Amino acid sequence: MLVTTSSVHSALKHWRDTSLHESDLKSLLLYQRAQTRGATPLEAHRQVLDSTVTALGELHPHDAQLLHLRFRDGMTGRFVSRQLHLAESTIFAQQREAIERLTTIIQRQEAQLRSTYRTRWERRLEDLAYTNLVGIEENLATLSSALLQPDRSHVVAVEGIGGIGKSSLADKLARDMVAKVAFADIAWVTARQQSFNLGGSIRQERPSSINAEGVTTLIFDQLWEDEAAPLALSFDERLALLERRLKRAAHLIVVDNLETVADVEALLPILRRLANPSHFLLTSRSGLLGQAGIYHLPLREMSKDHAIQLVRQEAAEQNITSLAGAPEEELIPIFDTVGGNPLALRLVVGQLHVHTLDHVLWRLRAARGQPILNLYTYVFRNAWDSLGEEDRRVFLAMPLVTEQGGDLEQVADVSGLPVDVTGDSLARLVARNLVEARGAFNQKHYTIHSLTRTFLHEIARWT
Ligand SMILES: Nc1ncnc2c1ncn2[C@@H]1O[C@H](COP(=O)(O)OP(=O)(O)O)[C@@H](O)[C@H]1O
Ligand SMILES: [Mg+2]
Repeated sequence: MLVTTSSVHSALKHWRDTSLHESDLKSLLLYQRAQTRGATPLEAHRQVLDSTVTALGELHPHDAQLLHLRFRDGMTGRFVSRQLHLAESTIFAQQREAIERLTTIIQRQEAQLRSTYRTRWERRLEDLAYTNLVGIEENLATLSSALLQPDRSHVVAVEGIGGIGKSSLADKLARDMVAKVAFADIAWVTARQQSFNLGGSIRQERPSSINAEGVTTLIFDQLWEDEAAPLALSFDERLALLERRLKRAAHLIVVDNLETVADVEALLPILRRLANPSHFLLTSRSGLLGQAGIYHLPLREMSKDHAIQLVRQEAAEQNITSLAGAPEEELIPIFDTVGGNPLALRLVVGQLHVHTLDHVLWRLRAARGQPILNLYTYVFRNAWDSLGEEDRRVFLAMPLVTEQGGDLEQVADVSGLPVDVTGDSLARLVARNLVEARGAFNQKHYTIHSLTRTFLHEIARWT
């Protein structure tokens, strides 16, 4: 219950209070909507009371008159009773009833507005095809506490290699927030150029990459989609309007696929400027390391148990019953080959409509067949293309380091490069989420995902 008769009573007492510190109505979307449309806290407080008491007056004119005299005009009970030719005790009984009716009206209007907003927000999210996300509870809890605590970081980045589950996690979180109506408004924009479907094909969605200005404009257009925005605004004017709006009330803005933004270095300062009290949730294949004021959530591979659970779930969903019911040891080769990458796991299961498991796993190891080649292209191509000679050499050396990973000296040893050069390369590989750095600050070791290991066997042909 967002308002009670006693909070409405208290709000009424402050109807004309010019030194109002904190409105009793501030958690209402009715109030926040007034704010996003330009009202100061004081004005938002008054607007909610003005409009809901007016609505009350249409059904119960005497109630509205009484509330106006008592609270908006600040008259005493005695004065009002004389004015209305009623006994003072009657006035207080009537006032109590009027406040109860007003509370009901506010609750109804709020519920209606929330349901309208929920529908709009759900439309803004993409239809990401998942039914149940396996093993995300911990990450989800970390993210929601980062987003719901006002004093926490206002820019949060979910980072990891392609297919590891960044967009799905962000989507699930946004849907939870929509259900809770925890923000004044929500936007979801993507900078994505390509998408990959579970049949194994790649779709080009944008001919060229989008820049900081483009992303900002997408956010602006979404937030103003149902309102008349002034026409022909310059970029700076749009940015100023956006800043004013996001500073007034807490919004949640998701920017998916940040790694494809042509000038991330230009975008991040803009987002930081727009944040607080609003929150930004970013997803990116590259770690936004070295950027101040960002809370990082690196997504790791799924564990073996979760990967097997996902394979079974996917098999059941696609009605491949023999796989869904297979004993664990028959499923383990899948995990050994693709590791805990949910995109690759789902692709493998889909291939089993046509091929045997042995054949699909061979295709993965030998990098054969269009769906597998597309998977590798989708996950690795851009990152691979951005690597220099030495980085590739270190990357290709990674499968020769033990499966548990090696420290810097071991990686340098295998790659045949000096320790300092290897260290610089590892930094770039880690930033692209191709290599994972594990361990505490005083003992790092470097590993690669199983999918990366499998992919690297055949990758010599890309060089
Ligand atoms: N925890 C999970 N459980 C089940 N499926 C998942 C999970 N995470 C991701 N997926 C599925 O894996 C695929 C890739 O996930 P996605 O969120 O698109 O990855 P990313 O955005 O990191 O590239 C999608 O089909 C998604 O539905
Ligand atoms: Mg994604």
